[in-house]
Amino acid sequence: MSKNINYTKRESWGSSFGFIMAAAGSAVGLGNIWKFPYVAGESGGAVFLFIYLICALLLGFTVMLCEHALGRNSQQDAVGTFKKIAPGKKWWLVGAIGVLASFIILSFYSVVAGWTLAYIFKSVIGSLAGLQLTEYSGFFSNFISNPVEPIIWQSIFMIITVIIVVAGVQSGIEKWSKVLMPALFAILLLIIVRSLTLEGSMEGVKFFLSPDFSKINSTVVLSALGQAFFSLSLGVGAMITYGSYLNKRSNIPSAAFMIIALGILVAVLAGLAIFPAVFATGMSPSGGPGLIFMVLPAVFSKMPFGHFFEIIFFILLSIAALTSAISLLEVLVAFIKDQLKWTRKKAAIISGVLAFIWGIPSSLSQGIWSEFLFKLPGQKPKVFFDLMDFFASNILMPIGGICVCIFTAYIWKTNNAITELSNNGKYRYSWLPLWGFLVKYIAPIVIFLVLLQGLGILKS
Ligand code: PHE
Repeated sequence: MSKNINYTKRESWGSSFGFIMAAAGSAVGLGNIWKFPYVAGESGGAVFLFIYLICALLLGFTVMLCEHALGRNSQQDAVGTFKKIAPGKKWWLVGAIGVLASFIILSFYSVVAGWTLAYIFKSVIGSLAGLQLTEYSGFFSNFISNPVEPIIWQSIFMIITVIIVVAGVQSGIEKWSKVLMPALFAILLLIIVRSLTLEGSMEGVKFFLSPDFSKINSTVVLSALGQAFFSLSLGVGAMITYGSYLNKRSNIPSAAFMIIALGILVAVLAGLAIFPAVFATGMSPSGGPGLIFMVLPAVFSKMPFGHFFEIIFFILLSIAALTSAISLLEVLVAFIKDQLKWTRKKAAIISGVLAFIWGIPSSLSQGIWSEFLFKLPGQKPKVFFDLMDFFASNILMPIGGICVCIFTAYIWKTNNAITELSNNGKYRYSWLPLWGFLVKYIAPIVIFLVLLQGLGILKS
């Protein structure tokens, strides 16, 4: 994207590689490293992994191709895309759901990203050093239940996100991501090695890799689906928006494949890094949103140069969170800029401030507001934070995914989508017709059934 925004000519990526890095940067984030292990831990481990993989490979890939094709074809924001392809119809509401979901996700995402920033600081000043294994959980709970400190970190994170989105992302994000991805891999591998060599770690490997199919139930399947969409940034218009900055020469299918592969790989590596350590340190895999913050410092404390790796890890995690948060904010900014014709700067600042304010109750719900529970039919009572996550990830994202498939298949028509994806026949992938079949018949129906089952609307 150019830094000097020219309102008559739309911004675009510098190169296909830049697009892959930015889209992979959007996909790989807290969802893969923070959320995946804790949701998997609460949902039976290996069974969850198994269903997650199916959802990500089959449904995630299908929806991602739709989103990229729609965005590149229309060269518009999430709402404008539907308006342009189906003028005068109500389909733009699908884009509007995406904008709403992005806003909600950004609100609680910045809370967790604030925790990671705080953990960089805490590692640097040595507050995590010298704790006993059992003390890491208490340390974390104390921190997140404080009514002020986490909100300050959340605001710092939001300010950084807004500054980058205002400045334009090409030179910043494209460059950073190229260094970040390999570094993140390397450090995850190191953690895995240490985690696997801890005494008692094999229980964790078993928990994560050997599925007990008797644990499958509709709630687990819905969380795995929600997690697949969340970790791949689908169903909220982010991939439509990023696709809209693509030029007509880029090879979308190969880019989408790389993005999915990276997203899945990082989630699996994160699971392998965490679960062996969870069991080795005697913690519980269903430790909730604090899981990695409680377990990883314990692993680092048992590693040579652990303090150094701890700092690097939280820095990388923060940057991974940043590249995802940028894409969430970009959905809002592109929408406001294209539809309401505001400047990028005004759009970014106002959306950032509003998402920050909406995030405050999520932060407080970890402490002084933890007694305010929301009861949804068929679900465990949830604090505000979990409610926002559930609503966005397990309801809005799957609905977005269903609508994107239906729109692509029946309104835009699969043939037009295939023409877009194959660059007018230049890349004739033999599986594209199969993809068309998935978009038309399989993906929307499967997602719909999972959603109904998971919400307890269909009684099994
Ligand atoms: N995929 C991101 C992550 O895993 C979160 C995200 C969701 C980003 C939706 C953009 C859109 O952290």
